[in-house]
Amino acid sequence: MKVLVVGSGAREHAIAEAFQKSSKIDKVIISPGNDGIALEFETISLPEFVQIRDFVNANKIDFVFIGPEQPLAEGLTDYLQKHKIRVVGPSQKAARIESSKAFAKEIMQKSNVPTASYRSFTKHDEALKYLQNCSYPQVIKADGLAAGKGVIIVNNLEDAKDAIKEMMLDEVFGNAGNQVVIEEFMVGWETSIFAFTDGENFVSTIFSQDHKAIYDGDKGPNTGGMGAYAPIDKAVSYKEFVDQKVFTPVLKAMRDENSIFRGVLYAGLMITKDGPKVVEFNCRFGDPETQVVLPLLKTDFADVCLAILDNKIEELKLEWKDAYAVNVVAASEGYPGKYRKGDTIKISSDFESNTGAKVYYSGVKKDGASLVTSGGRVCSVTTHADNLVDTITKTYTYFSKIDFTGKTYRSDIGQKGLL
Ligand code: AMP
Ligand code: GLY
Repeated sequence: MKVLVVGSGAREHAIAEAFQKSSKIDKVIISPGNDGIALEFETISLPEFVQIRDFVNANKIDFVFIGPEQPLAEGLTDYLQKHKIRVVGPSQKAARIESSKAFAKEIMQKSNVPTASYRSFTKHDEALKYLQNCSYPQVIKADGLAAGKGVIIVNNLEDAKDAIKEMMLDEVFGNAGNQVVIEEFMVGWETSIFAFTDGENFVSTIFSQDHKAIYDGDKGPNTGGMGAYAPIDKAVSYKEFVDQKVFTPVLKAMRDENSIFRGVLYAGLMITKDGPKVVEFNCRFGDPETQVVLPLLKTDFADVCLAILDNKIEELKLEWKDAYAVNVVAASEGYPGKYRKGDTIKISSDFESNTGAKVYYSGVKKDGASLVTSGGRVCSVTTHADNLVDTITKTYTYFSKIDFTGKTYRSDIGQKGLL
């Protein structure tokens, strides 16, 4: 079979790698991918929906896997399905579980999924009035997609006023801030989990953990994710609860809402003293969690996708390597603010990918014979080993073989798993 993966980041690189390992997939093409992914895979730029459709038809692609939220929220799945193309990824309506935080909260409320209590507002003066009578901290979220930046934790009324002014009046997140969700601040530790679902049934994966802040010890501004590890031993005991109290009711609520969710559903969880509560749902694989979860999946990933496409998730059993995976991201100096670009990336010749160490590329481009940095998150390294301590050491050993001016990274990825 031939598969087209839509997306351009390290997540899509890991998805492509999972397909490459499948005995059922002969060819993986990524659109647009990036120049790093292109060292290994065929990539092609297909910026318009119609170009994707024509490419799929002309090249007899068996199915399309959509990686990022943006094309899902724009309705790429619906468009391709209308043209009889098979797609792994939710419809535009179902993608609202990520593209509208107010919708996600409503669905959670309706289906009794544990989450922070909240109010949502479309009028600035009403939000302001509510904030004047709140206790702090509170969490203020732009309703729409804001590339992971639309969440502000405020400790007092002054900061809360600034946040809603920025979102609702100054429109720093564009339309995404026309509506805001203001929610209770939850205390606990975070973990995430994916469910593969055909809309009716689902199977959930191992838990993983992202590291969102730029500096060690979760300090500094949030990024797209600076590294991840999996599995999370202390989350295992919550798996049944999450399956029964999160995924089961939310997928039912989506069906009842006539927004059946098919694809990969991401639940970001806060493990509070009262148990797991949902921080957010995403309508797709997480980045960088995918870069640690898929390398541990023993089940053929094409079988997972076919089970989603053929409504046969009920028959799917997931098998996992008995190992840990750790992924560390190399970012450009300045990220998540304005960052350096154009620095040559050097990878030492003793970086051996046959040891299970893998480089996933995101913000890179070709300059002559070399790759140079071109984005905030540049690339990352995943390794796996029998225990977490060794995996952390192994990942950082390989990570040190990659260098560029201004290389910025966290040196504590996975440490929380050792506490
Ligand atoms: P989100 O984009 O909704 O995942 O939010 C980004 C980050 O903000 C999360 O990973 C949490 O660390 C934090 N966050 C979001 N909502 C809450 C909340 N209600 N309480 C505490 N922290 C939160
Ligand atoms: N790692 C969080 C996300 O993909 O949104």
